[in-house]
Amino acid sequence: MSTSQETPLEHSLDSLLRPKTWDDYIGQEKVKKNLDVLISAAKQRGQMPEHILLYGPAGLGKTTLAYIIGSILGVPIQTASGPMIERVGDIASLASTLENGGVLFIDEIHRLKKNIEESLYPIMESGTVSVMLGKGPAAQSVTFDLPPIVIIAATTQAGKLSTPLRTRFSGGTLKLAPYSDGEIAQILKRSAAVLETSPPDDEAVREIAKRSRNTPRIANYLLKRVRDYAQVHEKDISADIVKQALTERDIDAYGLTNEDRSVLETINTVFNGGPVGIKALATTLSEDPETIEEVYEPFLIQVGFLDRTPRGRSITKKGVSYLRSVR
Ligand code: ADE
Repeated sequence: MSTSQETPLEHSLDSLLRPKTWDDYIGQEKVKKNLDVLISAAKQRGQMPEHILLYGPAGLGKTTLAYIIGSILGVPIQTASGPMIERVGDIASLASTLENGGVLFIDEIHRLKKNIEESLYPIMESGTVSVMLGKGPAAQSVTFDLPPIVIIAATTQAGKLSTPLRTRFSGGTLKLAPYSDGEIAQILKRSAAVLETSPPDDEAVREIAKRSRNTPRIANYLLKRVRDYAQVHEKDISADIVKQALTERDIDAYGLTNEDRSVLETINTVFNGGPVGIKALATTLSEDPETIEEVYEPFLIQVGFLDRTPRGRSITKKGVSYLRSVR
C-alpha cells in the first residue's frame, strides 16, 4: 500500500521543491550573505533579528527565504497576505498564534489597508498591541505584549510603501534580482532530482530555462508540465519534448503566453501602439490594473517589448516585430 509520503499531492509538490537551506537556495548571493549575517548575529545573541523587507518581482523566492530564515532560527512561521488582512485585530491574532515567538511573513505588504498598516507600527517598534475595550465614553485602550516576532514582509512594489512603514524594517530592505539562465538551469536540475523525473539533458534544461522568464516559480511550473507531457507520451525529457509540451500550452520561445500577447496586441491595434493609461488598458482587457502591472508588464518591459512612460504604456519596435513573427 502506498503512503501519502510516497504519493505527495500535486499541490504539495511546490513545498517539496522549496529549498530548505542556504546551500540548496541557488543565486541571490548578496541577499543570502546579508541575511545570513543578520540572522546568525541575532541568533548568537539569543534574540529575534530586526524586521526585514524583501523586494522584487513575483516568483523569485521571497516566501522561500522567509521559510529558510524561520528554519535557521528554529522558530515557527505564520504567513499572511496584505489584501487578506481585513481587521486591525487580525495582525495581533496572527502574532499571538506564535506563542513562543516566530516569523510573521506578510506577503504583498503594499496592499495592506492604511488603518491596518498603522496598527503594525507599535507591533514593529515595541512588540506591543493596543486594543480598545468597551464603547463610547467608557472605552479604554489596553496594551498587550506580543510574543517575540520578526516580521518578514514581501512586496513587488517597494515604491508603494509609505515612508513610516518602510523605515520600520530596521533589519533592512533586500532586493531580489532576476536569475541568470545558468542559475535557472541549476534550479531546474535540482527540481528534476527532487521530483525524481528522468533527468532532462542539458539542451532540454536550456529550452525550459529560456521560457522561464528568469523566474524559479515559472521554471518549476514549466518543468512539472513537461514532466506530465513526457510521462503521458512515454518519452524522456528532451529539447523536442520541451518544445512540443510548451507549444501545446501556447508558451512561446520567449516564455510569453496568450495573455501577454493580448496585452501587446491591444496596445498595438486598439490604442495604435500607445501610449495608453493603465486603467484604459485594463478595462479593454477585462483585467484589473494591478494584475497588468504586476503579472504582465514587468517581463514585457524586461524583454524590451513594452515601454512605460509617464504618459502611459507603449509597444516598442521590438514588440511590433515580435507580434509580426507570431501572427
Ligand atoms: N526554488 C525557488 N527558488 C529557488 C532557488 N533560489 N534555488 C533553488 N530552488 C528554488
